[in-house]
Amino acid sequence: MTTTATGRVAGKKALITGAAGGLGQAMGWMLARQGAKVALTDVDLAGVQALAAAINAEVPGSAFAYAHDVADEAAWAYVVEAAVADMGGLSILVNNAGIGGDLKFVETDTIENWRRVQAINIESIMLGCKHAMKHLRASAPSSIINISSVAGLAAAPGMGAYNATKAAVWMYTKTVALEAAKMDWNVRSNSVHPVFIKTPILDPFIAMAGGDEAKAHERLTRGIPLKRIGEPDDVAYCVLYLASDESKFVTGSEFKIDGGMLAQ
Ligand SMILES: NC(=O)c1ccc[n+]([C@@H]2O[C@H](COP(=O)([O-])OP(=O)(O)OC[C@H]3O[C@@H](n4cnc5c(N)ncnc54)[C@H](O)[C@@H]3O)[C@@H](O)[C@H]2O)c1
Repeated sequence: MTTTATGRVAGKKALITGAAGGLGQAMGWMLARQGAKVALTDVDLAGVQALAAAINAEVPGSAFAYAHDVADEAAWAYVVEAAVADMGGLSILVNNAGIGGDLKFVETDTIENWRRVQAINIESIMLGCKHAMKHLRASAPSSIINISSVAGLAAAPGMGAYNATKAAVWMYTKTVALEAAKMDWNVRSNSVHPVFIKTPILDPFIAMAGGDEAKAHERLTRGIPLKRIGEPDDVAYCVLYLASDESKFVTGSEFKIDGGMLAQ
């Protein structure tokens, strides 16, 4: 018996990078529960395999897992083709994988830290868009969702490499949106800009607070009008909207998920 998927992204085929944990994991659950097939990729293969198994236990046949270093072009070429073969196409690309990098100031930053953050946070997105585009075009209407940060719109001391990459993600997203529109490909491209969300990426802030999570969260929320850090689903719901055809007239835009922080 064949079953027809229902939900806000029924019939869509999504590739999500950095899906073993944090935001990517929440997006995987969200899109699968709303009817999409999901290709979950990460350097942590065991992590995405475990997630795919859990999702498939609830939504049979919907999730696939791949080992994938997003800084590696050959890996992109392989993973995109494998995901297209397994899912029967590709209509959503979520470029989510990213790292915070080391906290470094102008005079103490190292070129190794700088290049590592560039490779994983922004070069990956160029590679992903490049290798996925022909499939996104073939499966249109399609949607590219690039995970930037409030740090791409506002700077902070010690975060030079991260700020620079996330600002580049913001602008590159617009270039892709305009190229796709000019070519009538029906492929949209938008960026998402979260503030602090409760995932392992915040672990260095907890370490700086001597391991005291409540103290770290209190410090992190000082600039947030809604006075809390976010939950992964706060971002996943935005990704769901952008992945669905509900956002069919939205491209080249940025979406802040920041508890009001940048309204100040
Ligand atoms: N959580 C936040 O507070 C926050 C805020 C703003 C933006 N973001 C952005 O959201 C995205 C996801 O962050 P998160 O909070 O879920 O982080 P996380 O550290 O919890 O998860 C990141 C995932 O990316 C994977 N990854 C790391 N390097 C990789 C590589 N080279 N190739 C493939 N996968 C790789 C990790 O294994 C991990 O599963 C990142 O781009 C991050 O910059 C997060």
